[in-house]
Formats: sequence, C-alpha cells, structure tokens
Amino acid sequence: MNAKVIATGAYLPKKILTNFDLEKMVDTSDEWITQRTGIHIRHIAEDESASDLAAKAAFDILDNADVSASEIELIVLATVTPDMPLPATALFVQEKIGARNAFAFDINAACSGFMYALSVANAYIKAGMVKNALVIGSETLSKITDWTDRSTCVIFGDGAAGILLKATENEDEGILSMVLHSDGGYTDLMRVPAPGSRQPCSVEAIENRDIYIKMKGNETFKMAVRSIASVSKEALDLVGLGFSDVDWMVCHQANRRIIEGVAKRVDLDLDRAIITIDRHANTAAASIPLALDWAVKNGKIKEGDIVLLNSFGASLTWSAGVVRW
Ligand code: UT7
Repeated sequence: MNAKVIATGAYLPKKILTNFDLEKMVDTSDEWITQRTGIHIRHIAEDESASDLAAKAAFDILDNADVSASEIELIVLATVTPDMPLPATALFVQEKIGARNAFAFDINAACSGFMYALSVANAYIKAGMVKNALVIGSETLSKITDWTDRSTCVIFGDGAAGILLKATENEDEGILSMVLHSDGGYTDLMRVPAPGSRQPCSVEAIENRDIYIKMKGNETFKMAVRSIASVSKEALDLVGLGFSDVDWMVCHQANRRIIEGVAKRVDLDLDRAIITIDRHANTAAASIPLALDWAVKNGKIKEGDIVLLNSFGASLTWSAGVVRW
C-alpha cells in the first residue's frame, strides 16, 4: 500500500501583524526583517487555540476531499503549542470535527513536526492498519513568543494546515520516500525551558521569561541549508530520482534565505520552490502544509507532479520526503 494525498486544507487566524506593527513594539525595522527573513506579515491567533485552528483546517481538508469526518480513521497532529499538556490536542480536534471513528494523537518534532507526522501516518497506511489519515500541523507560536525579544518575535506566526492521505495500491503514486533525522546534541539551540518536568510552572519561570522561545538563530541558520540539502538527496536517491526530476520543492518556511540557499546548493531553479514565508512567517509544524495548500489552490502543484518536501527544526530535527502528487 502507498499513501496518496487526496486533499489539502488550511486556516489562518484573522489578525495580521505587519513588520511596521513590530517596529512599534521592539527595536527593529521593516527593512531588516524583509532583508534577513523575507517576512512581511504574520497571522496571530487571539482567542483561538491550536485545536481551534486545526479543526478549521480539518473542515477545509474534508470539504476539498468531499469526505465526511466519520470516515476518518486516524488523526495525527503536529504541534509545539498544544492546547494543554494533556490530553493530546488531536483529541480536541477529533471532537470538534466529529471524527468519531478515528484514533488521534500528537507529535512534537518542532518545525519538522509535519514531516514526522506524515511519516507516522504513512507507516500506518503502509502497514494496512488504517485506510486513511488526516495529518495536520497547527501552531499558536504567538503564545510562546517573547514579544520583547527582537531576535525571535519577528519571525514567528500562527496557522494550521494539513492533508488527507488515503491508501492506494498504486505504488507509483503518493508518498514515495521519507527520511528523518534528529540530533539530541543540539537541544540548546532552541527551546522553551518552562513549564515542564525539569522546570515546573513558577513565578521565577515567568519572571525569567523561560516560558518563551529561546533561539540561537544564527547557529541554527548555519546548519539548516547543508542539512536540508543532504537529507533531500537521501530521499530522492531512495527512489532513483534527482533534483532535476523535482517539479516543486516545499521547504519548511523558516527564512527565505534558507530556501534560497538550499535551491542554490542543489541547483534547483528558485521558481520551483514554493515560498509563502512572506505572508505566513515561520509557523513551525504548520508551515509545510500551509505552503502545500497555497500551491495546490493556486494551480502550482498538480496531479502527477513530483514534490520534494523538506524541513529543519529544533533542536535538531530534519527530514525530507518525495511525493508523487
Ligand atoms: O524554524 C526552524 C528553526 N529556526 C530557524 O531555522 C531560524 C534560523 N535563523 C534565522 O532565520 C536567522 O538567524 C534570524 C532571522 C533569526 C536572525 O538573522 P541573522 O541574520 O542570523 O541575524 P543575527 O542573529 O546574526 O544578528 C545580526 C544583527 C545583530 O546585530 P549586531 O550584533 O550585528 O549589531 C542583531 O542584534 O542583527 C541584529 N538583530 C536585529 N536587528 C533588527 C537581530 N534581530 C534583529 C531584528 N531587528 N529583529
């Protein structure tokens, strides 16, 4: 069995925060943010949680697939901003969309979360355990962003998106390969220190701003391009394809310069890279499916295309996958 992508869907919260808005909040400028990241705007979830965003994205996916929620057998939700530590946010999504016949759970692999979730759903389908799966990335990063720290607050945004996978007997379509990597030697590059079992909720944690994202952005950046390029080659090699066979590359949208660097390194025309970071910013696990959904709805990715997905995230996770759409 292979897992074929049947439909995409997305949801972005209504509030938009521009670079000019950020100029009034921290010592930054539209010029710096645009040049160093490619970001112009980001969406911000005000009264919505990760499961609210994910449920709205799920309704869009189901509509586009013309499938009812009761037919869904598995929901895998990738997020680093769950509604609460337990239960899993995926269960709130299950309830909100009425997917009564599914089982649901969360995955946390930071910005590679969607890819990890995709690989898990793919494995369940390949093993014959389910016939379909909703794979969603949903983030409300604005809620764990330190809005006084210009080195992080300018790059993150909120949103949710995902895909519906369905089992197919045609081994030439759907997910052709997936490669995942992680390295626990770099967990200091990006983290939200509290609250957790190492540092439970406390006034001190709040006062030290340990409840917000801490990131060594420049060190992370330096490792991204090389890692994404090499894991992409691994995923393509597995199915005997090269970068010249790729119709579309959909990278995790962390920084426009990272996407440009990857394209240059693998000699792929930048026109074949889907870039949505200008209007979505870095939405961690939601960024790849948001970009995919935009590309499908705007007539870029079409049936039969070879799509290369790749990601890089905290701390560290990186992955790639090859899909025949
Ligand atoms: O999502 C997956 C994991 N995360 C990533 O992949 C993030 C990857 N990293 C990045 O995208 C970039 O490192 C950032 C966008 C976060 C930062 O860009 P950078 O080009 O690496 O900047 P930098 O940290 O090297 O800082 C360069 C300068 C510094 O000033 P000095 O020391 O040269 O005077 C910073 O203080 O830019 C300054 N700076 C800013 N200036 C204006 C840092 N943030 C800002 C800002 N506005 N928002």
